[in-house]
Amino acid sequence: MFDVAAIKSQFPLFAHYPELVYLDNAATTQKPLSVLDAERHYYEYANANVHRGAHRLAVAATDAFEGARSTVARFINASSSDEIIFTRGTTEAINLIANTFGLGLRAGDEIIVSTLEHHANIVPWQMLAQRNGVIVKQLNITADGEIDLAHLQQLLASPRAKLLAISHASNAIGSIQDIKMMCDLSHQHDCKVIVDGAQAIAHLSVDVQQLGCDFYVFSGHKAYGPTGVGVAYIRDDILRELPAWQGGGEMINVVSFAGTTYAQAPQRLEAGTPAIAQAIGLAAALDWLASLDRHAALEHETALHRQLETGLRQIDGVIIHGSARHKVSLASLSFRDAHPYDVAQFLDDRGIAVRVGHHCAQPLIHTLGISGTLRASLAVYNTADDVAQFLVALAETLDLLQ
Ligand code: ALA
Repeated sequence: MFDVAAIKSQFPLFAHYPELVYLDNAATTQKPLSVLDAERHYYEYANANVHRGAHRLAVAATDAFEGARSTVARFINASSSDEIIFTRGTTEAINLIANTFGLGLRAGDEIIVSTLEHHANIVPWQMLAQRNGVIVKQLNITADGEIDLAHLQQLLASPRAKLLAISHASNAIGSIQDIKMMCDLSHQHDCKVIVDGAQAIAHLSVDVQQLGCDFYVFSGHKAYGPTGVGVAYIRDDILRELPAWQGGGEMINVVSFAGTTYAQAPQRLEAGTPAIAQAIGLAAALDWLASLDRHAALEHETALHRQLETGLRQIDGVIIHGSARHKVSLASLSFRDAHPYDVAQFLDDRGIAVRVGHHCAQPLIHTLGISGTLRASLAVYNTADDVAQFLVALAETLDLLQ
């Protein structure tokens, strides 16, 4: 039996706002006490800079920070903690890969980017195209919001296809991609794969070796961890060849005005003081997630999602966007007779938090032929009562706005 009340009680924010119905989890999740405690513990008992001090606090901080790297590696089954680069978040992780691996591509090489992508997995490739002449190829989706596999095959058939940029789960409409199949297919064509796991990491069990991806990126704050920290997993054989991208302390070997040499990865790609407390908080969040019965947690979210979509289909005037066979637990909606912004405002008045807009996925929203949606996204601490309250409030709001 999955005890959602026990889970929710671990999140202090809900004690302060007992009436809150928080359905904006795809934007950011709330944080369990163990994450807040881990950050506080670091500042209270081990605060020092990492990798450079000759004193015991510096050793404690370094041990905790490098321990966090090992926790991340274990959580996604990387073969070594050296394959884990800490970044500010998913966005910086993708920019890092564009400015290292991507810069090594040649003019005319092709980067396949799916229509489902968040701007963070589109714009860095477009900026790269301006710098070194790579070509961004848009990968179509089907009417259901799934990847058009025939189009993918067609794009991969080009000998210039060098990288597929694909989200594990769409932030805007929830579609889950069959990443293992796409990696197998891409590798047959000698094309590497970067997976944006921002919306998957809190819901699905991620095993980068089993998926076979070359790069996997995600943010801490969407997985019950702190803001300001994220991860770029880069497979060792690729990582070893990557140049430095930001210069500064930590990433060097020897600096002289005659020329500077760089450290090994991962330090080579982590210039400056890293987000030490946040990385420690992220590790606590992943430990917290790992302590759950992940299968039961996913079943709980799936049941809530079913309740949500079933209820939505019974409300006149609601349009659900995205009908992929596999979706993470979110619903993206527009309305026959009301604007999503107005609806969200009414919901907020009733203590229900959702997101509206293009969800940083304008090409997708444009393809759907709309200007934006209202998105209700679920997390492991949401309850059947949260969903029921949302459905009642939405039906009443739409009645009012008609
Ligand atoms: N990328 C986040 C979202 O989808 C902010 O809401």
